[in-house]
Amino acid sequence: MKIQIINGPNLNLLGKREPDIYGNSSFDAYFDTLKAQYPAIELTYYQSNIEGKLIDKIHETGFAVDGITDGIILNAGAYTHTSIALHDAIKAVSTPVVEVHISNVYARESFRRQSMIAPACKGTVAGFGMDSYRLAIESFLQ
Ligand code: DQA
Repeated sequence: MKIQIINGPNLNLLGKREPDIYGNSSFDAYFDTLKAQYPAIELTYYQSNIEGKLIDKIHETGFAVDGITDGIILNAGAYTHTSIALHDAIKAVSTPVVEVHISNVYARESFRRQSMIAPACKGTVAGFGMDSYRLAIESFLQ
């Protein structure tokens, strides 16, 4: 099984950015732990601050044919709340996409309560810290 993790804007700053909300670990350090937990899964990771590059990566990995990605885990950061283009990209591909958030977006500012991408996704995991990514992996194993 092959799973692509895609992180959007400002998530390159995990570990430095608002640690009270997002924790103290960089994504790279967390990703090493995740890979060790799931040695049988081919996990790949991509991050960009640019909306169009996130869309390109969804197109590139979005067609679940033999040998290609079986699932996409997407933390679109703030584009979650604004991007119809990401919604359309998720709809356009056949690989299932699970939306992930580190924080509980429903317990924060009101503008974070709307997700433009949620209706296009298979499901959403939010509020479990970095463990949200692991829970999203588990959803593909069921
Ligand atoms: C986030 C929540 C978003 O509202 C925010 O803009 C982020 C991170 C999360 O993982 O909790 O950048 O997606």
